[in-house]
Amino acid sequence: MDAAEALASLMSPQGRVDPYPAYERLRAFGPVVQTGPGLYAVTGYAEADELLRDSRLRMLDGELRDQILPQWRDSPALSSIARSMLRTNPPDHSRMRRLVAGAFTPRRITAMREVVATQAGELIATMAADGRGGSPVDFMAEFAYPLPVGVICALLGVPAADRPLFRRWAADLTGALEPEITPAELAVADAGATELRDYFTELVAARRRIPGDDLTSALVQAHDAEERLSAEELLANLVILLVAGFETTTNLLGNGLAVLLAHPRAADGLRRHPEQAPAYVDELLRYDSPVQLTTRTSGEAVRIGGVELPTGSWLLLLLGAANRDPRRYPEPDRFDPWRALPSPLSFGAGPHYCLGAGLARLEAQVALPMLLRRLPELAPAGAPRRRIRLTLRGYDNLPVTVGEPA
Ligand code: HEM
Repeated sequence: MDAAEALASLMSPQGRVDPYPAYERLRAFGPVVQTGPGLYAVTGYAEADELLRDSRLRMLDGELRDQILPQWRDSPALSSIARSMLRTNPPDHSRMRRLVAGAFTPRRITAMREVVATQAGELIATMAADGRGGSPVDFMAEFAYPLPVGVICALLGVPAADRPLFRRWAADLTGALEPEITPAELAVADAGATELRDYFTELVAARRRIPGDDLTSALVQAHDAEERLSAEELLANLVILLVAGFETTTNLLGNGLAVLLAHPRAADGLRRHPEQAPAYVDELLRYDSPVQLTTRTSGEAVRIGGVELPTGSWLLLLLGAANRDPRRYPEPDRFDPWRALPSPLSFGAGPHYCLGAGLARLEAQVALPMLLRRLPELAPAGAPRRRIRLTLRGYDNLPVTVGEPA
């Protein structure tokens, strides 16, 4: 099998459901490998980390998109993502990131701990009631989706009654983050993006009239004060906060619980020592990363891992593969919360390092031990179904039995 075939095996439906064998096939060619004309895959931890921090590499922003896919402007999904900080380069990126990070303060995040604990407690109680008598419940539908949606909606100031709408729109829009997308999938993503844009246009108008203590009000003020954030950028960043803020965390909770249920001794350790949750959550992030890849293009020639990347190369930075690099993590396929060097690349690195990492970690650190303690008999109930998605790795459903609550 050559490197192009190894990459094709990763992109196949089977590779999307279980990418780890394909990562090993790619790794056999070295930490950085050419997989097609101008296309390179990175599986090495040190190399991916270095490239994410290298200012010669750029996001595929609007300007670069115009050269290869000028139709992006006609797609609400692609243009919303392209205008947000996630896909821009300096100076736009630095300006937007500073503004949003200024509103996304540690104080605001710490204040969410109580919201997370309250909402997690309520969801566990509902799950216990629905699963009474041994009937299986779907952990994704009953917990992994509603918790991050509730938390991000509370942060953004979205009324509780509107939460169910967001789940579908945001799930539809995330299709546009896949490395390859069909016209039918793009149409679904576009519909989601349009709904979200319309919704946030109204929310922004409402918060302008009556500001609250939420992130949307803070960003509206940044826009209105000195036009430091344009109206389009304001909407695009609100949408990306919502989307980045819940599909990913949903998958951390789903992938995380599945790993814990498959490792009962480790789960028991967390149940007895909830204060060890930070180490467990970091290892869960490494072991089965909710975000498996990101992409960059090289603005100049770059030499890395013994490979010369010419200007204009297209890079697939395989975070999920870097997290299993044996040069960084001995026995990488073993789940071990006591590793000396956690720091997985699941939140990226460098200037685009995840703005919500603190919030996502907080949600998992509160929710996972609470689930294990309040539902000590929680167990898998039949085969879960994986989503056929590579970038955002998670489950469609994860059936469990809840047993007797503690
Ligand atoms: C960026 C992962 C949760 C907001 C990123 C990036 C990754 C990532 C890998 C960098 C992308 C790149 O460099 O190309 C994750 C994971 C999460 C999570 C695995 C959950 C387990 C969140 C949450 C929020 C959020 C809860 C917000 C509430 C963002 C934003 C960016 C970002 C705004 C863009 C930052 C920038 O471009 O400067 N995330 N994320 N994420 N994330 Fe997260």
